[in-house]
Amino acid sequence: MNLRHCKTMSQEPFKRVLITGGAGFVGSSIALRLKHDFPDCEVVCVDNLHRKGSELNVPRLSAAGVSFVRADVRNREAFDGARYELIIDAAAEPSVMAGVDGIRVDYVVDTNLGGTLNVLEAARRCSAAVMFLSTSRVYAVNALRAMRMRETDRRFELSDIQEQAGVTVLGVDESFDVDGAKTLYGATKYASEVMVREYGAQFGLRVAVNRCGVIAGPWQMGRVDQGIIGLWVAAHIYGKRLKYIGYNGKQVRGILHIDDLCDLLLLQLAHMDEWDGRVRNVGGGREVSVSLLELTELCRTVAGRTIEIGYDDAVRPGDVPLYLSDTRKIRGELGWLPTRPAETIVEDVVKWIMDNKEKFRGVLT
Ligand SMILES: NC(=O)c1ccc[n+]([C@@H]2O[C@H](COP(=O)([O-])OP(=O)(O)OC[C@H]3O[C@@H](n4cnc5c(N)ncnc54)[C@H](O)[C@@H]3O)[C@@H](O)[C@H]2O)c1
Repeated sequence: MNLRHCKTMSQEPFKRVLITGGAGFVGSSIALRLKHDFPDCEVVCVDNLHRKGSELNVPRLSAAGVSFVRADVRNREAFDGARYELIIDAAAEPSVMAGVDGIRVDYVVDTNLGGTLNVLEAARRCSAAVMFLSTSRVYAVNALRAMRMRETDRRFELSDIQEQAGVTVLGVDESFDVDGAKTLYGATKYASEVMVREYGAQFGLRVAVNRCGVIAGPWQMGRVDQGIIGLWVAAHIYGKRLKYIGYNGKQVRGILHIDDLCDLLLLQLAHMDEWDGRVRNVGGGREVSVSLLELTELCRTVAGRTIEIGYDDAVRPGDVPLYLSDTRKIRGELGWLPTRPAETIVEDVVKWIMDNKEKFRGVLT
């Protein structure tokens, strides 16, 4: 066991925690985990319930003793009087498709960047540490597409030999190219990363950035443009049509169970004194990854249903054939690595939907 695990959180360095986007998939999962592990800690979730289905998390938060405030992170006043030792910034419009049609660009920018600027100002005023949940989408699309890959009958695989810096057969590390177009979502998150680190440097705040790949698990309100595992599982359970868009279903993503992310966060919180603006890739590598074709097989096996899946040749702006997280850096520091395989992720999502099938029908279909 890595010695870093021995540092416990019996005396957590925070009594009051704010989680923005706290009714969302990631935010609510973290809130519930923190409240569970630290019952004396005051956990406050802020969310404007923009995401369909987030409202279903509010009673769960309340039942667990987490405070919920319906507010919009775009408004600086939402943070008036903030008094926290820790802010976890998980509010976002997290779709790679958001704003690409020129509609509601302001919402993406004002929430993803403006909201984080408001978080940082609040953190500066009350000297809170900040954990920023960023995304692998900060890496340049053209560079991701230029990675050397080979195609098998079920998926793309990274080649052993790569020409670009920051990518090996293990995946993409933190030094990979960020210089290039990355979708509005990725660009706003990257701009926020820059500001988070700047506030850390200028004002002596403890700040850290987790660049997450695809996260999945129960309570993700999957939709066509975000939350692919939830979408795929739900379509199998409710009998909806799906289609593979581009790459013939061979596109691959490393995936991370939400509980693995929460485990990591707990470890990171035990080392908040080391939050020096560090950016860490967090996500599934080759060993916890699926292509869409493989995901379909898993869904058929676990959900016990086969549905019709069409093909669409289109490759949309921002689409990439493969993304795997190289997490050696965080593994070396904290001994963390994902422990839940793709099968477990799909099984947990299937069980969650089946236990609440009628309740979620309107949200997940
Ligand atoms: N889920 C993933 O696969 C994934 C991957 C990489 C990074 N992330 C990051 O993790 C964070 C959480 O993502 P998620 O998957 O939980 O998404 P989510 O959509 O489930 O949660 C985001 C929450 O933010 C809220 N929100 C949106 N606009 C808001 C606003 N203006 N004011 C207040 N609240 C607002 C939404 O209502 C929603 O509840 C995001 O920052 C996202 O970029 C997620």
